[in-house]
Amino acid sequence: MGKVIAVVNQKGGVGKTTTTVNLAASLSLADQRVLLIDFDPQGNASSGVGITPNLDENFYSSYHVLMGEVPVSTAVRETGIDHLHLVAGNSHLAGAEIELVGAFAREGKLKAALAEIKQKYDYIFIDCPPTLGLLTVNALTAADTVLIPLQAEYFALEGLGQLMTTIGLIRQSLNPDLQIEGIVLTMFNSQVKLSHEIENEVRTHFGEQVFKTVIPRNIKLSECTSFGKPIVLYDVNSKGCVAYLDLAREVLTRNQAAHPGITLESLQSNTFPQPEVGA
Ligand SMILES: Nc1ncnc2c1ncn2[C@@H]1O[C@H](COP(=O)(O)OP(=O)(O)OP(=O)(O)O)[C@@H](O)[C@H]1O
Ligand SMILES: [Mg+2]
Repeated sequence: MGKVIAVVNQKGGVGKTTTTVNLAASLSLADQRVLLIDFDPQGNASSGVGITPNLDENFYSSYHVLMGEVPVSTAVRETGIDHLHLVAGNSHLAGAEIELVGAFAREGKLKAALAEIKQKYDYIFIDCPPTLGLLTVNALTAADTVLIPLQAEYFALEGLGQLMTTIGLIRQSLNPDLQIEGIVLTMFNSQVKLSHEIENEVRTHFGEQVFKTVIPRNIKLSECTSFGKPIVLYDVNSKGCVAYLDLAREVLTRNQAAHPGITLESLQSNTFPQPEVGA
């Protein structure tokens, strides 16, 4: 049964989409069957895997799935990477919140829609918009766990309390089993003292919930998006790529410990592209 991971932080520009796309792609390289759901009207995760969202009538997106207009399997599309599928997002999503006002069980729409395909995947990632509105609430209701990217910058922890409160409220009502997958520090600049201070603070507060892997600030990670490619297809030798492959290993190792059924064979280093020290 696929594990549903919502990638959430209501702060904008902290690396949610970059993390979703590159973690999903790295896991699919490790032979995991991965579905990426772009749940942000900006559609950046879709572009990030080379699919340009549009508003054509027959371009089925996560909006149509959420509104119950098509089954999710109709909206699933292939990407350039084996085992990595996408449900695209587009700006129709921006109206969903209002359109669903008054709808019955509106927070559980995505969860209900995903039931049909959960068993076809090992991991289902939901790239959330930078809000805690109905889209994110739907993602948190559908999710088994939450992955929180945290930018190693000023005010990194700002808003985290509010996010944890929201997760607590969702647990009390809509999704009692919701767990934290982990917090990942992004855009880390090892030259800057502040980055290290923030890392210490976050690790002191959240302990084991913080991934050991830290994602460095790396220009290749921002470049690859404009080429519509995950970093593994753009520059496998970059530090950004090495970091996301490490994060994928960490996610798999943690889940292997929790669910011994998941195979770790594909983690043998000969399966991954061999990263060298690079940019
Ligand atoms: N590790 C990194 N190194 C360099 N640039 C990065 C890194 N991570 C993300 N970026 C860049 O920072 C910007 C914001 O990243 P991203 O889109 O992943 O954040 P987000 O949290 O999804 O944003 P939003 O809240 O708007 O959805 C993008 O231009 C992206 O290319
Ligand atoms: Mg984003």
